[in-house]
Amino acid sequence: MPNLLTMPRDRSTPPLIAPSILSADFAAMGEECRGVLEHADAAGRADLLHLDVMDGHFAPNLTMGPDMCRALRRVFPAAFLDVHLMVHDPAMFIERFADAGANNLTFHIEAVDEVQVGPMADKIRSIGASAGLAINPPTPVERVMPHLEKIDMLLVMSVNPGYSGQAFIPEVLEKVRAVRKKLKPIQRVQMDGGINVGNAGAVREAGCGCIVAASAVFGVPALQRPGVIRALRGL
Ligand code: DX5
Ligand code: ZN
Repeated sequence: MPNLLTMPRDRSTPPLIAPSILSADFAAMGEECRGVLEHADAAGRADLLHLDVMDGHFAPNLTMGPDMCRALRRVFPAAFLDVHLMVHDPAMFIERFADAGANNLTFHIEAVDEVQVGPMADKIRSIGASAGLAINPPTPVERVMPHLEKIDMLLVMSVNPGYSGQAFIPEVLEKVRAVRKKLKPIQRVQMDGGINVGNAGAVREAGCGCIVAASAVFGVPALQRPGVIRALRGL
């Protein structure tokens, strides 16, 4: 099956939109996800569901684990499940999330030794998912430069991991400009944190091919969400 995140694109293609379920109503998760995945108009529909996994060590919050991924996979067999591992020991969880149905697994450069990046990405691909590498706002972009060839996607964080609803850090857009010329058309830059309809234009313009949004999507009433997704896409 072709991987949504590694489909060739150029900068004129609208970005993929990945609502983060961290801001969804956890007591109604199935309904919340169905609403964004199954909207009649494709432009107002989510392309991916973004799962923010935090372990209370790498990020100061506890969120969800493989069982959430497995439950969503069971109810939405065709959904693209994009797992963002904000955990101290990502190697510990790769197989468990792949087994639970994840399509993409992103780990942080701050959580691994440099020499582990390539083997970790290979391991993720060997179990059938694509591999993302994430970089936090304070980490210099030079840290990921030697690893771009080894990954499918670069996730540039635009807030510090922990919570949805934080303010966007505009300085990180410079990182996207620095890497985008070095990436192949099948590699995307994803941006995550503080993105809303007001600043999404700058995110798209910098060259991001996938936009994550939690509070901008799930923080508005369900009927307004397709309109927000369309607007984040720039349509
Ligand atoms: C930050 C998470 C984000 C977050 C985004 O720790 O990785 O995915 O949920 O939330 P918003 O879009 O509300 O900033
Ligand atoms: Zn995230």
